[in-house]
Amino acid sequence: MQVISIVNLKGGVGKTTTAVNMAYELAVHHNRRVLLIDADHQGNASKFYGARASTGSLADLIEGRAACYVDLVQPTNYRNLDVLPSDMSLLSADLSLVAAGGSARRCLSDLRDAIMEDGAYDCMVIDCPPAFTAASVSAIAASTDIIIPIKLDYYAIDGMRELVSQLRQIQTITEVHIAGALITQWRNTDVIRQGETWLRMHEPCPVFDTHIRRTDVVDKSTYWRKPLAECSPRSAATADYAAFVREFLGEEDTDRGTQI
Ligand SMILES: Nc1ncnc2c1ncn2[C@@H]1O[C@H](COP(=O)(O)OP(=O)(O)O)[C@@H](O)[C@H]1O
Ligand SMILES: [Mg+2]
Repeated sequence: MQVISIVNLKGGVGKTTTAVNMAYELAVHHNRRVLLIDADHQGNASKFYGARASTGSLADLIEGRAACYVDLVQPTNYRNLDVLPSDMSLLSADLSLVAAGGSARRCLSDLRDAIMEDGAYDCMVIDCPPAFTAASVSAIAASTDIIIPIKLDYYAIDGMRELVSQLRQIQTITEVHIAGALITQWRNTDVIRQGETWLRMHEPCPVFDTHIRRTDVVDKSTYWRKPLAECSPRSAATADYAAFVREFLGEEDTDRGTQI
């Protein structure tokens, strides 16, 4: 089973946008049974898919209040796509995870193992907060693939170096596979093009060939709470997320019409 964590220590780089759209693409266009896990107390991925954490959330799993993940999972309007939501209660759960020490940090690995045993999903996509919290470290440790969304600005490359070196530290404790950095909010300007070239030349980790163009409909999709492919099927960012997921899966970059 694939466990994909979307990680960056910065906010506003497109983690949640990547998590919600990647989960949708995998579920609807690639027929994978996907569990999207919200590991950020801001709960943006949960809100996006209309999942309410008040009836059960990741915090309940971490703090042992829920006997089984099945009780916490909520369906979305889309086939093959469920959500395990979070809200602010994840903050205190996070503290208890820290207090409980190493074994509790296996929380998301235990969840992965339980899901594999049940054969309930083909992949987990985990939207992480912009910090190393106990929940995000637990997510990273459970992952088969780490994706690092990156918004190219002056500080981005330093930030990414720092992140990759911290991920490598976690790697000394557990196996961590960085699938690659994904350039988001790309614009056709000199500065962005130079930043992209620089990043690809001095990459501290692999960089996906596909970049995600900056498109106003991404903001619109958050208001509509619909994945890009549903909200604006012909937008540049929709095509880019579809191409990115094909690249991630190692599929030929053919027209979507032949993919379905
Ligand atoms: N490709 C894009 N084009 C335009 N706006 C984007 C794009 N990707 C993300 N955004 C916007 O940037 C903001 C931050 O994105 P978000 O995914 O919430 O980042 P993070 O989860 O890393 O904090 C949001 O307002 C989102 O709509
Ligand atoms: Mg986010």
